[in-house]
Amino acid sequence: MKAYEITNAGAKGRLALVDRPQPKPGPGEILIRIRATSLNYRDLLTVKGGIGGANKRGLIPLSDGAGEVAEIGSGVTRVRTGDRVCPIFTPGWISGRPAARTAESSLGGGTVDGMLREYAVAHESAVVPIPSHLSFEEAACLPCAAVTAWNALVAVGHVMSGDTVVIEGTGGVSIFGLQFARMCGARVIATTGSEAKIERLRQLGASDVINYKTTPEWDRRVMELTGGEGADHILDVGGAGTLARALQAVRAGGFITVIGLLSGMNGEINPLGILFRAAHVVGIRVGSREMFECMNRAISVNQMRPVIDRVFQFDEAPEALEYLASGKHFGKVCISV
Ligand SMILES: NC(=O)c1ccc[n+]([C@@H]2O[C@H](COP(=O)([O-])OP(=O)(O)OC[C@H]3O[C@@H](n4cnc5c(N)ncnc54)[C@H](OP(=O)(O)O)[C@@H]3O)[C@@H](O)[C@H]2O)c1
Repeated sequence: MKAYEITNAGAKGRLALVDRPQPKPGPGEILIRIRATSLNYRDLLTVKGGIGGANKRGLIPLSDGAGEVAEIGSGVTRVRTGDRVCPIFTPGWISGRPAARTAESSLGGGTVDGMLREYAVAHESAVVPIPSHLSFEEAACLPCAAVTAWNALVAVGHVMSGDTVVIEGTGGVSIFGLQFARMCGARVIATTGSEAKIERLRQLGASDVINYKTTPEWDRRVMELTGGEGADHILDVGGAGTLARALQAVRAGGFITVIGLLSGMNGEINPLGILFRAAHVVGIRVGSREMFECMNRAISVNQMRPVIDRVFQFDEAPEALEYLASGKHFGKVCISV
């Protein structure tokens, strides 16, 4: 089968197309014919360096894929040949609290091969069925970005109709955050660094959009827009450069979910800000299979569709990665396999 491996891991990391033996499912396992994958910011860090110190040379990257079950191993009862499935981000995290060593055991990032290949073997417990109205490309957007946004807003934040949600930027996690917030009847204040993306954010239901480049003190604008109360939920994908502002923009007793590090990893936080606001500041590690299944029920009932910016072909995988790095995308970038 064809697969991409990381070569020259580190800053000069890049993808090489290789031939690998087609895997065989063992007892309790299934063989999946991968039909589509999607890219996450994490994949850039994995290929180009930036996550942990592990040498990623030879690893097949990308956590997110969707496909159909081509073969089942002995004893498999949860899925059947022909079923459309997505492997879950962290195979060992079925429900409850995050599994230990989540980072190492997640697909395409630690030491476990990811989805940028034609076939993959998974344990039958580590997949979920795809909502029937979604294409393989749309389903491939779900395992990391969508589950992360769902975990932050719904599982942790218990978002309610009438709440105000702030999303930062227009990447995969944030656009899912916007869609889930609107699905739950919440108001969305969006930020972006691109004037060209403002209209699309409004079309998706953002009531207000703040350009964080021309309005760097976006926290003040959030306070104005909420009558001095602050937002109920802030999905913080910015990290060091945005968390302090999120603490100024959250309402008393509100939630800040610490998701990403787009603006850096090392920052200083004044604990008084958390204390005075009685803020819930919670780290997010994607989510469990149970969260994925719960989210898929909501996606099916609401016939929600992921927002795909562009679909690349399998032989264009390096170009797809470069496109993600450019930050021009709105929502998700996919690769058809
Ligand atoms: N903790 C978890 O479980 C988890 C799961 C998934 C992702 N993440 C992390 O979450 C972050 C987003 O991931 P993603 O895959 O959604 O990324 P992505 O699709 O690559 O999104 C990048 C977008 O973020 C916006 N952005 C960049 N710098 C920003 C800044 N300083 N402030 C606000 N927005 C900024 C830009 O949008 P505009 O052009 O609109 O400004 C950019 O296009 C990454 O750090 C990723 O590692 C964490």
